[in-house]
Amino acid sequence: MAQDGGGKTRTVAEIMSSPPVTAIASETIAEASERMGERKVGSVVVVDGARPVGIMTERDLVRFASSGADASATKVSEWMTADPWSVAPDEEVESAFQSLGEKGYRHIPVVDGDALVGIVSMRDLMKIARIQPAGRFAGEIPPGLEGVVVAETNIGHVRGQQGFYHYRQYNAIELAEQRTLEDAWYLMLNGKLPTLEERERFIDQVRPLREIPANVKPLLPRIAQLGDPFVPLNGLRSAISLLGSALGFRPSLDVVDHELQHNATQVCAVVPTFLTTLYRLNKGLDPIEPHPELPYAANYLYMMLGEIPPPEHARAVEQYLISTIDHGFNASTFTARVITSTGADLAAAITGAISALSGPLHGGAPSRALDMLDAIGTPEQAEPWIRSAVERGERLMGFGHRVYKTDDPRSVMLRGVAERLGGGNVGLAKQIEETAVRVLAELKPGRKLYTNVEFYAGIVMDTCGVPREMFTPTFASSRVIGWTSHILEQANDNRLIRPSAEYVGPPPPQPVPAVS
Ligand SMILES: CC(C)(COP(=O)(O)OP(=O)(O)OC[C@H]1O[C@@H](n2cnc3c(N)ncnc32)[C@H](O)[C@@H]1OP(=O)(O)O)[C@@H](O)C(=O)NCCC(=O)NCCS
Repeated sequence: MAQDGGGKTRTVAEIMSSPPVTAIASETIAEASERMGERKVGSVVVVDGARPVGIMTERDLVRFASSGADASATKVSEWMTADPWSVAPDEEVESAFQSLGEKGYRHIPVVDGDALVGIVSMRDLMKIARIQPAGRFAGEIPPGLEGVVVAETNIGHVRGQQGFYHYRQYNAIELAEQRTLEDAWYLMLNGKLPTLEERERFIDQVRPLREIPANVKPLLPRIAQLGDPFVPLNGLRSAISLLGSALGFRPSLDVVDHELQHNATQVCAVVPTFLTTLYRLNKGLDPIEPHPELPYAANYLYMMLGEIPPPEHARAVEQYLISTIDHGFNASTFTARVITSTGADLAAAITGAISALSGPLHGGAPSRALDMLDAIGTPEQAEPWIRSAVERGERLMGFGHRVYKTDDPRSVMLRGVAERLGGGNVGLAKQIEETAVRVLAELKPGRKLYTNVEFYAGIVMDTCGVPREMFTPTFASSRVIGWTSHILEQANDNRLIRPSAEYVGPPPPQPVPAVS
């Protein structure tokens, strides 16, 4: 029985969300899903007047996304569940919970007579009933947790159907076009963009933190010699681990907000120095100290390449860095939050996030898109090369995305940056993009495959002199800002993340056999 502390049975009316977020059947999926995003709800009840006639949930949107249909041309009526099952407001929480489970629903409209009065979700019920969902509901959870909402966040979000993502309340691409990396970093940390004075103060605060601590520096040459080939991201992971110990990072559970925020700034500030130092040491070159007068991106290129970069290169890389700070609940961000939820220190969470990013399915390999360009070689080769690759069942690197079924906004911006920079590869890249999108539409109809962030990122970084082995580490140097923002948010309102699994092995308990 679901009871409160005093033993009283609770009813649905006490915990339902009211008024519920609604839609009408003739609206488009894009309109309804935007409302769900804005109002931060997992479903909309479709109404005709006060009467519920359907329900559309996040699960429907996930199915819809994989159908490849156009959200702004498809009506809610085509994807909603019509005549939804409902509960009465005076029903007990426990019995509503059971009904949801038996029917496999996650959201139920609450209906009084004929009128919709609220909505109750599995989450609302579980908060009250504290009933373990494993087993009974495990089969419902999609593999890879695709589409499952696991937290609330103020940091940012991706709207895949619309080709839009944002940091806090700002369009991320507009930030990349109009602001500096330091401004975006400040926004992620503090939840607001800095004034001119705040920006200067922040730059002054960060400047000394770029230096590698004296007791960590002598350890780096050995790390930079490990592995053949040396993997800079592995080196960074070890360096962050050493940094956490050297600076005495304490468990996030034991520290107050400002100490954790300082740890976050320390880590983000030093990552570019770690990466470029490890890179140069591995190449047998002398590491270069941070340049006190250069902003983040220009300093990164300077420490890597040994020369103050032309302003157009610094700005191009800066725009790439801003555009990759955060991108929803991706695997590395989630990892950082899971580790933080245990109360571990910030360096522990960042090393875990770097590990998650190192996997080819996540950090990927922006260099692979460039390798494809090299393999194609000339614009005339684009059509036959691409056609035969897709016909052989191969994937074109830099195309397709799990969330975006329309243009990836980062790719659109980076195409513009690449055009602005010029350089030999841009013409070929655009020819390949045009050909690939056309051939994929023909040979993979309905899949909606367009360029992703990696396609033009490779071109931009290559033109700015970033070596291919530093592409993914460069991505890590901006994503660490996103990770630390999520770590601070998680620590600020923490509950241990501890899901369950459904056991599907041989039935226990089996007798333990004697050693034979
Ligand atoms: C990014 C990616 C992993 C997303 O994959 P996903 O959402 O799981 O998509 P799926 O694997 O379900 O693919 C759906 C269909 O599109 C096809 N497809 C997806 N990406 C493709 C690509 N880049 N080239 C050719 N076909 C592709 C798949 O073959 C599949 O076709 P099928 O229905 O005939 O089997 C995938 O698009 C990919 O592998 N891209 C290439 C690698 C890349 O650029 N990675 C960087 C990502 S930022």
